[in-house]
Amino acid sequence: MKLSEKRIYEMIEKAEEAWARAYAPYSGFQVGASVLGGSGRVYGGCNVENSSFGLTLCAERSALASAVAAGETEIKAVVVFTDTAEPTVPCAACRGVLAEFNSQMIVVMAAKNGIQKRMNLSELLPDPFVLHSEDRKKNKQIK
Ligand code: THU
Repeated sequence: MKLSEKRIYEMIEKAEEAWARAYAPYSGFQVGASVLGGSGRVYGGCNVENSSFGLTLCAERSALASAVAAGETEIKAVVVFTDTAEPTVPCAACRGVLAEFNSQMIVVMAAKNGIQKRMNLSELLPDPFVLHSEDRKKNKQIK
């Protein structure tokens, strides 16, 4: 799938808006993200930290949840936006969660200084876990 530069710019703008609203009082590391849904709409998300640390929500998953809640079932691309010298790659947990909706999506990593990196999610997560329906219920304890 090919994304136009105009579309990528629109996604980066949305991710930067969310980045500005990141709740990151513990790490001080703000992350903004956006995802492009199958409908063509773009959804933003930011990291939301928690004092328990472990309950912290990453920006990518926050954007994805917003898209799914709006009715999107296919995600075409994701942008990760940070104010870092080099672009930031999505963490391993986010790669798995994104792959659930499209293991081949475009991943644009954009730093505020303009440096960008683009990859396919399959390069970042080549062999995602898939639960095959025929493998369910094999455990006899599950009715
Ligand atoms: N973070 C994200 O939002 N996305 C990632 O892919 C990597 C990490 C956030 C979580 C935490 O709030 C902060 O960055 C530092 O790890």
